[in-house]
Amino acid sequence: MMNPSFFAIFPVLLCVLVNAAPAVNTPIQVTLRIEGATSTIFEGPITTSGHNVSTPSAGSHECDGLNQSANSQSGATAIAALSDGASVHGFGFDGIFVDQFDDFILNQIGGETTDFSSSIWLTGVNFFPQDVLEGCHQEIHSEDQVIFALTDNPGTPIFLKLVGPSSAQLGQAVTLTVIDGFLQTRIHGVQVGGQTTDQNGQVVVTLTQLGLNSFKADGTGFVRSNGLSIQVAA
Ligand SMILES: *[C@@H]1O[C@H](CO)[C@@H](O)[C@H](O)[C@H]1NC(C)=O
Ligand SMILES: *[C@@H]1O[C@H](CO)[C@@H](O)[C@H](O)[C@H]1NC(C)=O
Repeated sequence: MMNPSFFAIFPVLLCVLVNAAPAVNTPIQVTLRIEGATSTIFEGPITTSGHNVSTPSAGSHECDGLNQSANSQSGATAIAALSDGASVHGFGFDGIFVDQFDDFILNQIGGETTDFSSSIWLTGVNFFPQDVLEGCHQEIHSEDQVIFALTDNPGTPIFLKLVGPSSAQLGQAVTLTVIDGFLQTRIHGVQVGGQTTDQNGQVVVTLTQLGLNSFKADGTGFVRSNGLSIQVAA
């Protein structure tokens, strides 16, 4: 015979279990960044979740991380994030769909096109390159950095990360550091604010303009960095 007290606590238990369960495909906020061949097409926070994505070339396909049931719950993905950013911020993108692998291959973002031989649109999640044909399969998480970069590097380029202060005084000299965003190692020989990073991956810049001063690191064969904004006060 079942203990009646079970029935008394069951609703409480159920409530605890429901609250403890991971949220299923609730919208999350991520940083989306689109690095074109010579400039940044978009960089900013967006809200996204897993859903079908439609491209001019391929029509509508599932892009919610289920990966043909390899994952048990749907959730946000890199290409769904691209799609959500594109619709809110008004840049276009296109991709073909490979039925065999059940995923998109991107061929255009913000009007910048790849021919698949001399350049590709590479995806990175938290500065780590994502395998091709995983853009709708790999689930992304709140606060992730989702990066799409047009690259002509035939190997796997390093995703640069620029680190420095968020505020400074007018006339102050500040040190900016460039690292491999994934391995965190210093990167020398890349450009920031008109200078080249030294052996420690650093440049020193003197801030002569009031207000927001923005910097990015870039170098041949690398994926351009995040923007670093320094608020300069008198
Ligand atoms: C989502 O895409 C699938 C094809 O992958 C299609 O069968 C389905 O109708 C689409 N759903 C919506 C709501 O567009
Ligand atoms: C998607 O499923 C395939 C086949 O089961 C697997 O090889 C791949 O690692 C999965 N991808 C992700 C991101 O889970």
